[in-house]
Amino acid sequence: MLISFIVAMARNRVIGRNGQLPWQVPEDLQRFKRLTMGHCLLMGRKTYQSIGRPLPGRRTIVVSRQAGLRLPGCTVANTLRQALTLAEPAEELFICGGAEVFRQTLAWAERIYLTELNLAVAGDSFFPELPEGAFQVLWQEDFRAEIDYRFSILQRPENPLALTQMVKDKL
Ligand SMILES: NC(=O)c1ccc[n+]([C@@H]2O[C@H](COP(=O)([O-])OP(=O)(O)OC[C@H]3O[C@@H](n4cnc5c(N)ncnc54)[C@H](OP(=O)(O)O)[C@@H]3O)[C@@H](O)[C@H]2O)c1
Repeated sequence: MLISFIVAMARNRVIGRNGQLPWQVPEDLQRFKRLTMGHCLLMGRKTYQSIGRPLPGRRTIVVSRQAGLRLPGCTVANTLRQALTLAEPAEELFICGGAEVFRQTLAWAERIYLTELNLAVAGDSFFPELPEGAFQVLWQEDFRAEIDYRFSILQRPENPLALTQMVKDKL
């Protein structure tokens, strides 16, 4: 199963404020829908609450430490490991936040669908820094919209040694 992150962040790595997204970029929400439709989503309980309902056409796994929590239309897991087991045999699992869940699962992510909005905003949830050299850019495109943004697909190199060599060759 391919484990992917999907996230939109501001230049200062903010992803949320007061339990909500601090911006409205409809094109990005449309892309989120296109990319995730038919797949399995994994999210933290707070992110689920900010959305408020299961997203149609996608299996939604919510992680929470609350025993006995039930969320109609979702599967609740009490640990992230349990969430992974429940996601099998999905072809691709989309981990879609929030900050707490991204932080704990970064080591599992093979791919990141990353929207970088060209704005800096105040916030209280941040996307973690990525370890240097851990991901390479598979695809990148700049978009002009009400808020300009860059969309990238990052992937862990299959062969980190090859990537190191590639970087050295460029120096
Ligand atoms: N820009 C984006 O792409 C994006 C994406 C997603 C979210 N967001 C934003 O991010 C913010 C929410 O992020 P957040 O970091 O506050 O919360 P979160 O990661 O969505 O959820 C945290 C909750 O998940 C549960 N949890 C976390 N780790 C767990 C573990 N190891 N085992 C079991 N349960 C676990 C706990 O739920 P219980 O408290 O129930 O135990 C915890 O309180 C919001 O502002 C949202 O809008 C932005």
